[in-house]
Amino acid sequence: MGKQQITVLTGDRPTGKLHLGHFVGSIKNRVKLQNEADCSFYMIADVQALTDNANNPEKVRSNVLEVALDNLACGIDPNKTTMFIQSEIPEIAELTVFFLNLVTLARLKRNPTVKDEMKQKGYGEDVPAGFLVYPVSQAADILFCKSNLIPVGEDQLPVIEQVNEIVNDFNRIYGDTFEKVKHLVGDTPRLVGIDGGVKMGKSLNNAIYLSDSYEEIKKKVMNMYTDPKHIHVNDPGDVKNNVVFKYLDIFDDDKVEVAKLKEQYKKGGLGDVIIKKRLIEVLENLVAPIREKRENLAKNPEAVMKILEDGTVKARRIAKETMKEVKEKIKINYF
Ligand code: TRP
Repeated sequence: MGKQQITVLTGDRPTGKLHLGHFVGSIKNRVKLQNEADCSFYMIADVQALTDNANNPEKVRSNVLEVALDNLACGIDPNKTTMFIQSEIPEIAELTVFFLNLVTLARLKRNPTVKDEMKQKGYGEDVPAGFLVYPVSQAADILFCKSNLIPVGEDQLPVIEQVNEIVNDFNRIYGDTFEKVKHLVGDTPRLVGIDGGVKMGKSLNNAIYLSDSYEEIKKKVMNMYTDPKHIHVNDPGDVKNNVVFKYLDIFDDDKVEVAKLKEQYKKGGLGDVIIKKRLIEVLENLVAPIREKRENLAKNPEAVMKILEDGTVKARRIAKETMKEVKEKIKINYF
């Protein structure tokens, strides 16, 4: 048997610009994997975005370009990664319908990712049905092109687990068709928000965006939570729950210097402004080239849309092949 093919697929909901949490949780892996995988897909999940934004189509529409720009600016290369738009592949919706028969309502309600998001949005029983079943449509996103490696943030792991249950059930009932999928989480699976909240999120108002200006980064870092007991420079300070040090641990390459600064901060004698200034420079060094590339790409939105259009044509071709096989397996290939 030959070496197993690696097909990568990942996606973003177009509901807002992407932030540093996306970068360390998934985008870095996406960029790396496009060079290593046999095949690589990036999907803009507009259908999924509409499951909780049905009354806000304008928001979803305008953010399609924004998330495409974010990914291109971070180094997704359309020559290596097929970039496409979910709603342009009707086979994904078709596959979702068949997968829905393999999943129970109880199982969907138990999915921790969905549960968390439902709580955050305050849905209760009045959850849109489309939202509740989005893990099933995500299985179709992943399987329509037979991808088997999914770079995602940690919050998505229960969704991937449910995708594998669908793979198992489908194969058992209709015969071997899909492979189990693996996830890949970045070395920082969950980035805390600038407010110290457990997660950076676009709806939580605690994010630093990949498109933020130097001034915005500066303002956000200067407002970061450090240690409320560290009032005078000479007071001993806490580095553990200190957001500035948490970020320095992740983003500052000079680990030796960060370790020194921590020691000094713990003993007392190191002011917040010094560590904040350091973090501003570290983040600016990371974001500046992304921001610059993004601004250049944004000058020509037609070219970006053309990349998505070309990618969609390619993805659609693959989707049709998979659907043919799926229909044969389900015995609904009539004519
Ligand atoms: N649910 C993902 C998120 O919110 C986005 C997404 C949609 C996705 N379809 C996907 C991610 C398929 C990986 C694979 O971030």
